[in-house]
Amino acid sequence: MKHSEYSVVIIGSGIAGQYAALKISQSSNLNDGLLLITKSKLGESNSRYAQGGIVAVLDENEKDSTSLHVNDTLRAGAGLSDGNIAKIISECSNNVIKDLLNFGVDFDKDENGNFYLTMEAAHSVNRILHSGGDATGRGIEKALTENVLKDENIQVYEQTVAVELLIDANKTCKGVIVFNDLTQEYEVIHSSAVVLATGGFGQLYKYTTNLSLATGDGVALAYEAGAVVQDMEFVQFHPTALSIESSKNRFLISEAVRGEGAKLVYKNGERFMDKYHELAELAPRDVVTRAIFNEMKEHNLKNVFLNSTHLSKDVLSKRFPTISRLCAKNGIDISKDFIPVSPAAHYSMGGVKTNIEGQTSIKGLYAIGEVASTGLHGANRLASNSLLECVVCAYELSDFLTFTNLDFPSQMDKTIKDAIDKYSCDLPEDDYDVEDLKQKIQDIMWNYVGILRDEKSLLTAKEKLAELRKEFPVQIKYANKREYELRNMFIVANLIVDCAIERKESRGAHYRLDYTKTMEEAVHTQIVKGEKEPVFVK
Ligand code: FAD
Ligand code: SIN
Repeated sequence: MKHSEYSVVIIGSGIAGQYAALKISQSSNLNDGLLLITKSKLGESNSRYAQGGIVAVLDENEKDSTSLHVNDTLRAGAGLSDGNIAKIISECSNNVIKDLLNFGVDFDKDENGNFYLTMEAAHSVNRILHSGGDATGRGIEKALTENVLKDENIQVYEQTVAVELLIDANKTCKGVIVFNDLTQEYEVIHSSAVVLATGGFGQLYKYTTNLSLATGDGVALAYEAGAVVQDMEFVQFHPTALSIESSKNRFLISEAVRGEGAKLVYKNGERFMDKYHELAELAPRDVVTRAIFNEMKEHNLKNVFLNSTHLSKDVLSKRFPTISRLCAKNGIDISKDFIPVSPAAHYSMGGVKTNIEGQTSIKGLYAIGEVASTGLHGANRLASNSLLECVVCAYELSDFLTFTNLDFPSQMDKTIKDAIDKYSCDLPEDDYDVEDLKQKIQDIMWNYVGILRDEKSLLTAKEKLAELRKEFPVQIKYANKREYELRNMFIVANLIVDCAIERKESRGAHYRLDYTKTMEEAVHTQIVKGEKEPVFVK
């Protein structure tokens, strides 16, 4: 097997991974260079499809303040957000946004040349920056990718999947084993700083806004390595994904459309959100999702509708060019027709537990972006806080690494040698119907661990997952990327179910039909491999 050495290895090329690579390259002494690995193509990630925007508490915005933003974040987080983390992230937002401008990101401006700040659900003021109307992710990702490609410190491996973290006997991460899906070759990467930036796990659900790459790999790798994983039961379902029967990966209809005044309605145009919350369409995301889900169940509907016809075709195609175009492709003129929408899995609040600098419970292992659980989002994420968290934590990580010895580890202990030796076995034949097994996991998660859960549905999910796992045995090596993803999906599905069973309350995105009340004390669920049950931690 080939062995390589790098000062830093980053796994994932979304906005968190690419921005971290650029910042670390600017600030650290990378004697052995930085390796950026992605199982897709550089820049192909959920990040690229982010629509609504990124929170920016700009110094020049007199109507806004970090305390207002922190309050909004904590309110949406249903008592579980970490106030200190929210404060740091909010206070850094002005600087990171200005830094993104330096990297060439082009945020939309109004006719006077001021940043166009928009509104989204549960924000108390207009503070969302966007790019290309509704193509914010593409705008940021494109600029970062251009810079990464020019940066001589950064080497990129595409179509390469991280399959195992190398942890020594002292519980320190010393590198990672990767598998090239094209050449089918394994490689050992030795590094004293391994950064997970692998995104979320929306693909665990039948209906999702996420790309097929969002299979929870980082959480699975970190869990298998012994890291603390936190709050896995909090899965955010976006209220308004385009509901077209033939598609499972659902196209997002940005919350910003409601921010610009669109209303949720039945087929006859009548509104219903007033019944559920004083903020109606702009209530926190979990509230809107449950309201739509409830309406769909009560009236036996496949979807409800979003009415954006108060805006002209011209305004809509300028402000929401991607959404207008995609809907038009499906025969929907959003200036005249109602848009069919229903909820879909969108974001994972839980993940690998970290501090603001991305440090996990394992020395040398860092996690940033959606794979991490800093505590910012609590039980329910405020819109457009994710991209902000990606960039702030990448920035803080790069600062932290400035003071860290980044010489690659020159010695391997027996634990690591044994882990590597396992891979000398033959590559197995590809025997499994991965698509079929994946679909069965997605059905189980959607039907029993979805927007509403209870003890019975969760125990059913656990049983069904255990049965299904027998069809896909545990192996050292798998034949291809899809099989590694399936392995990871099983691990992550079980973590979600176990944490959801333990949390006997309803809070934010975790709604239990058998425990509808919210407990007074807000606690995190934490789970570590080898320890039986998830534990609650304040
Ligand atoms: P991602 O962008 O998901 O990137 C993950 C990367 O990791 C990919 O490159 C992938 O190939 C790689 N990877 C994964 N596993 C492995 C592995 N085993 N080996 C190698 N590589 C691996 N948030 C907002 O704040 N504002 C928005 O407007 C917004 N809109 C959204 C719209 C959509 C449609 C979606 C799906 C999400 C949206 N979000 C939004 C959420 C936000 O986009 C994501 O949370 C954020 O982009 C995650 O970034 P990331 O860098 O952590 O991960
Ligand atoms: C959206 O545009 O509605 C998505 C925003 C987000 O997930 O933060």
